[in-house]
Amino acid sequence: MTIFEKSVTGRKAFRFPDTAIEKREFDIPNHLLRKKAPQLPELSEPDVVRHYTDLASKNYSVDKGFYPLGSCTMKYNPKINEYTAALRGFSQIHPYQPWEFTQGALQIIFELKEFLCEITGMDDMTLQPAAGAHGELTGMLIARAYHLSKGDFKRHIALVPDSAHGTNPASAAMAGFDVVELKSTEDGLIDLAELKKNLSDEVAVLMLTNPNTLGLFEKDITEIAKMVHDAGALLYYDGANLNAIMGRVRPGDMGFDIVHLNLHKTFSAPHGMGGPGSGPVGVKSFLAEFLPIPVIRKADDKYYPDFNLPKSIGRVRSFYGNFLVMVKAYTYILTMGRDGLTHASRMAVLNANYLRTLISRFLNIASPRTCMHEFVVDGSEFVRQTGVKVLDVAKRLLDYGVHAPTVYFPLIVHEAMMIEPTETESKDTLDMFSKILKQIVEEARTKPDIVKNAPYKTPVRRLDDVTATKKPVYRFKRQG
Ligand SMILES: Cc1ncc(COP(=O)(O)O)c(C=O)c1O
Repeated sequence: MTIFEKSVTGRKAFRFPDTAIEKREFDIPNHLLRKKAPQLPELSEPDVVRHYTDLASKNYSVDKGFYPLGSCTMKYNPKINEYTAALRGFSQIHPYQPWEFTQGALQIIFELKEFLCEITGMDDMTLQPAAGAHGELTGMLIARAYHLSKGDFKRHIALVPDSAHGTNPASAAMAGFDVVELKSTEDGLIDLAELKKNLSDEVAVLMLTNPNTLGLFEKDITEIAKMVHDAGALLYYDGANLNAIMGRVRPGDMGFDIVHLNLHKTFSAPHGMGGPGSGPVGVKSFLAEFLPIPVIRKADDKYYPDFNLPKSIGRVRSFYGNFLVMVKAYTYILTMGRDGLTHASRMAVLNANYLRTLISRFLNIASPRTCMHEFVVDGSEFVRQTGVKVLDVAKRLLDYGVHAPTVYFPLIVHEAMMIEPTETESKDTLDMFSKILKQIVEEARTKPDIVKNAPYKTPVRRLDDVTATKKPVYRFKRQG
């Protein structure tokens, strides 16, 4: 029931006291005056509180239960991040305030940039982009600006492996490149022969995720970097999977020229449902002049926005980016420290491998290799034997109170189920998840209809995804 349907005429949550203040007439033009009073819901305070508490409890989140969403790094969001982001000095400032009066905020942006450059091995960085995909577009525009600035007009191709996240080819295309897909090896890694065949003086950039979306580390990365650079192209790092290597190896040392990060994944800011994110883009020094303006700099103990970058690709977002997400990431880095970040990535890899081993006892894993922070189940044999799809398994998991993993991605694995437990889950939770999954596999073999018709316990059951995407209904329409 919507809050409008709960409305009772005359019910109120708050009454303004009668005051002795003189009533005044205002000269508002007639055409701006309402013809009838707005139809706002009328409820008591407990009605309102109960309505929203009930709605909130219907929502599933990482604060409520396990979230094994591969490729999305849904790690726990420490509450201290929320505390610092809510401090009035951060939450109440306005980006139009003169920078002389917002030194604390600029210091955070500057220092966060320094931390992230250190973690990634890059020389400079922008924190403007509002999400990973936005960071990719920014990085691709920088790559384009670089080649054009050298008068190298032939380079119109972006190479993207077939295991890549869908945003990679989309961002490259938006930046004006023609995308050429690279076929992976049987193992799901970059095929050096295929790469060699596709490299030419028309290639501008190779976009890579390392570890890739199968959770595998590209073992030939230094060789790949050399091949790409020898061909005059740039190497782009999709940092959505940095959680696996943070504090241990750095993309900059592997030979990457441009890097995007997802603060709303690796650095524990909450995300999902299109909420505010942050996708900083780091570059090697030879690309720094193309960064979006303004770049935050420090001189004479003052922090200031530097607009003086004649070769900049321009602004990619208003003001400085999603500042409060930066405060959360900054808090996370400071509370974790160098050793804490390294430990987190170790635990992320350990947890993923533990869970992979448990699950491999009853489902096929796409790659036999030790994984990094995530792994992919190949459900094709299971589907063939039971007639139950991995989508059905994902839906049935909801009945057991856990979030579903990513399904049907990466595209190179049929009936893929991609699982990323993250470092913040205990062994008990991983054991519990594996037990539930095993039980569903058993159900699929003995009572497949139960799984095929799931979920049963959620507020709504199977939705028509296509209609929801193509014809979304955002507004409540009052009857009559
Ligand atoms: C590997 C990879 N790259 C890029 C992205 C895009 O990031 P965002 O969702 O922040 O736009 C994702 C998101 O899941 C991802 O997993």
